[in-house]
Amino acid sequence: MLLTLIAAIDENRLLADARGIPWKLPRDTAHFREYTADKWLLLGRTTYEEMRGWFRTGHMPLVLSSRCGWDPEIGRVVSSVPQAIAMAEAAGQTELVCIGGGQVFAAALPYATKLLITRVHARIESQGRPVYFPHWDDSQWEDVIIWQQPADAEHALSFALHAMTRR
Ligand SMILES: NC(=O)c1ccc[n+]([C@@H]2O[C@H](COP(=O)([O-])OP(=O)(O)OC[C@H]3O[C@@H](n4cnc5c(N)ncnc54)[C@H](OP(=O)(O)O)[C@@H]3O)[C@@H](O)[C@H]2O)c1
Repeated sequence: MLLTLIAAIDENRLLADARGIPWKLPRDTAHFREYTADKWLLLGRTTYEEMRGWFRTGHMPLVLSSRCGWDPEIGRVVSSVPQAIAMAEAAGQTELVCIGGGQVFAAALPYATKLLITRVHARIESQGRPVYFPHWDDSQWEDVIIWQQPADAEHALSFALHAMTRR
């Protein structure tokens, strides 16, 4: 069973701040849509609330929450990462894709087999309420750059997609 974490971060591992995700990078958005299509997804309740309306037929969101008696409109609520992995596995899935946010990436990182990280080549000044991707130990991960995108008319910042697999 694969647990893949997919995220876009800046050079300080910033994921978002009071503005939400502080960049617009169409190629990264397209990559995110493509990779997550028709998959079971693990996400936190905060990210779920932000993404209402985004989910497509074929997505199965498993929403991590400690709330009793709350159920998402789409998908299922879970109370732990191992519960989400077990549910996906019992349904015959071979991969669960964790799409954040910061708290859920931190809870899922110990179980992750792959990190798909878009590294934005900038240090964004946070405008309050910064949310970070958790620290990982480089020595435990084999890091391959899949592609690189220079800044251009559509992308104010350059960035690169890294696929990291656990050694
Ligand atoms: N740049 C990126 O790639 C990226 C990706 C995704 C999200 N984001 C950004 O990240 C931000 C949200 O991140 P966040 O850290 O604030 O929130 P989050 O991780 O999306 O959700 C936090 C909520 O998840 C539940 N939760 C988290 N850990 C749990 C655990 N171990 N057990 C049970 N429930 C748990 C709790 O819900 P309850 O309160 O219901 O208990 C908690 O309030 C947003 O701004 C979003 O835009 C960025």
